[in-house]
Amino acid sequence: MADFYTDVVLEHFRNPRNSGELEHADAVGDVGNPVCGDLMRISMQINPETEVIEDIKFRTFGCGAAIATSSIITELVKGKKIEDALKVSNKDVIEALGGLPSVKIHCSVLAEEGIVAALKDYFDQHPEKTRPPYLEEKEKLLAAIEVHEH
Ligand code: FES
Repeated sequence: MADFYTDVVLEHFRNPRNSGELEHADAVGDVGNPVCGDLMRISMQINPETEVIEDIKFRTFGCGAAIATSSIITELVKGKKIEDALKVSNKDVIEALGGLPSVKIHCSVLAEEGIVAALKDYFDQHPEKTRPPYLEEKEKLLAAIEVHEH
C-alpha cells in the first residue's frame, strides 16, 4: 500500500477524465461520505438495447484522491456492459492508480458507490428490466464497509 500519492493519482487529479455532468443522463448516482463530507455525482448514458455504458461523467467535491478515483473509475466502466461494470471494485480502482495511502481507501469506496448508485437509479427508472442480483448484493456490501470503517 502506498503511503503517498502515486504519479498516476496525481496525473488523474491534475487532468481528470470525464469530469462534468451529462446533460441527458439515463442514470444519476449521488453519494457522499458523512465523515469527510465529500460528495460525488455520477451520470451515465446507457444503451437500452445492449446495456452498455456509452458515456459517463463525474462531478466530485472532495479530496485529491476522491477526484482521482472518480476519474479512473469512469475510465474503467466506460464501454462496459452493466453486469461487467458492477464487477469493478474499489480494489480495481486502487490497482489502476498504482496504490492509495491507507487513509484514502475510503475515497475509492466512494467511487465504487457512485457507480452502484447510478446503476441503481437506472433500474429504479426501468422496473421492466431485470435487475442484476449482484446490484443488491453490492449495495449491502458497500453499506457494510462504511459501517465497519466509521
Ligand atoms: S477524504 Fe473523503 S473521499 Fe477522500
